[in-house]
Amino acid sequence: METAKLILEGKTYELPVIVGTEGEKAIDITTLRQKTGYITLDPGYGNTGSCISEITFMDGEKGILRYRGIPVEQLAEKSTFVETAFLLLNGRLPSQKEFISTSVALNDYSLVHEDMQIFFQNFPRRAHPMGILSSMVNALKSFYPELDNTLEEANKTYLRLISKIRTMAAMSYKISKGQKVVYPRPDFSYCANFLNMMFDSPVKPYNVDPDLVQALNVFWILHADHEQNCSTSAVRVVGSGRVNIYAAISAGIAALWGPLHGGANQAVIEMLMDIEQSGATIDEVVKRAKDKNDDFRLMGFGHRVYKTYDPRAKIMKKMCDTVLSKLKHNDPLLDIAKRLEEVALTDSYFIDKNLYPNVDFYSGIVLRALGIPTNMFTVMFAIGRLPGWISQWKEGAEDPDWKISRPRQIYMGENVRDYIPLNERK
Ligand code: SDX
Repeated sequence: METAKLILEGKTYELPVIVGTEGEKAIDITTLRQKTGYITLDPGYGNTGSCISEITFMDGEKGILRYRGIPVEQLAEKSTFVETAFLLLNGRLPSQKEFISTSVALNDYSLVHEDMQIFFQNFPRRAHPMGILSSMVNALKSFYPELDNTLEEANKTYLRLISKIRTMAAMSYKISKGQKVVYPRPDFSYCANFLNMMFDSPVKPYNVDPDLVQALNVFWILHADHEQNCSTSAVRVVGSGRVNIYAAISAGIAALWGPLHGGANQAVIEMLMDIEQSGATIDEVVKRAKDKNDDFRLMGFGHRVYKTYDPRAKIMKKMCDTVLSKLKHNDPLLDIAKRLEEVALTDSYFIDKNLYPNVDFYSGIVLRALGIPTNMFTVMFAIGRLPGWISQWKEGAEDPDWKISRPRQIYMGENVRDYIPLNERK
């Protein structure tokens, strides 16, 4: 077994090296402090592995993304979101029988407790759907207190969550518009049901278009997991305290909301709309993005891991053209996005910093074409990411040595000093 040698204060320490199945290498520092008294420091954890996982493999240099070894490109082309969720959760594709039983279970669990509607009705009308979703997923524990650790019950809980998050998102949207809630239908697939619950209405029945259902399947497949990103790490950290899964997922939703993370899909569309309305030229926008004194960033560009084109963005960009041509509709924001990409990718600032479009750059265009309101874009990301969050939580929970997450720090504050009573202070 190869080791890493560390020389500190004249002493040499040997630390084990771990090599993953795809050749990734790590220095195992689990005994570092005990052996040396030192810790490592890595704000943002850019160089720090938090766990060993078998779920998703990413290669940021080559633009590779695989779920349980299957390339995301193949899943996007041939699979469905429900099947991909099963793959992430169970480490293999479902048999035909398992696929049917999973689909039936998702339908069986698709309703939410009627009392939950009272919660939705009492959120302020302008409440952000991500804030509502995070609260309501947490509330599920109160409605479904049974969560025992038998595999049978746990699987039910995972499917219950995956099914209900979709119903809750659509219900929240309908209630926010003051419209009648549309209930899930047993004859619709997971994605068709969501679109129908969002857009069907007694005055204007919604016609479920199979091409849009397919686009939604691909959209959610592309978002289904992404190894130890910010929100997944939040789910693992919160879950490591042994809180119930609903609370851990609620924390993941909260983390995803940030504009540097999942909130970027909403921020990209708002950026493109600003460009369209302000008439700013592409060169002016790119100049601002490069300006250190301007906190404006090209939203949807850059990634902590991908230092090349995000493979999901490639598929999403193609999907924009397919969906828009199917709808015989062109979106001026897509033209702006494409021109932005073109200019940025020939600009040395972006080239030198390896800044490419990420999953969020084109995803908003697809969602607009589906009719999803902008403030629900990150909710759409959360619904897609849920199977990944659950799989990652499950991987931790099934580890008999699952340690509570408790990073260390380097203290840079005041050295010891005495308290000064108030009457002795100026
Ligand atoms: C997601 O981690 C995941 O896997 C996340 C995700 C998932 O599926 O879970 O892929 C989903 O969150 C995608 C990312 C969505 N966010 C955005 O599109 C927001 C815009 N992007 C940036 O804020 C940024 O690129 C991040 C947050 C995505 C990555 O930030 P890093 O890795 O901390 O990189 P950094 O901020 O240190 O940037 C490195 C340099 C800096 O310049 P210097 O200080 O070196 O001179 O690149 C610059 C940055 O200023 N830079 C950008 C930029 N992104 C980075 N400059 C202009 N526009 C940008 N978008």
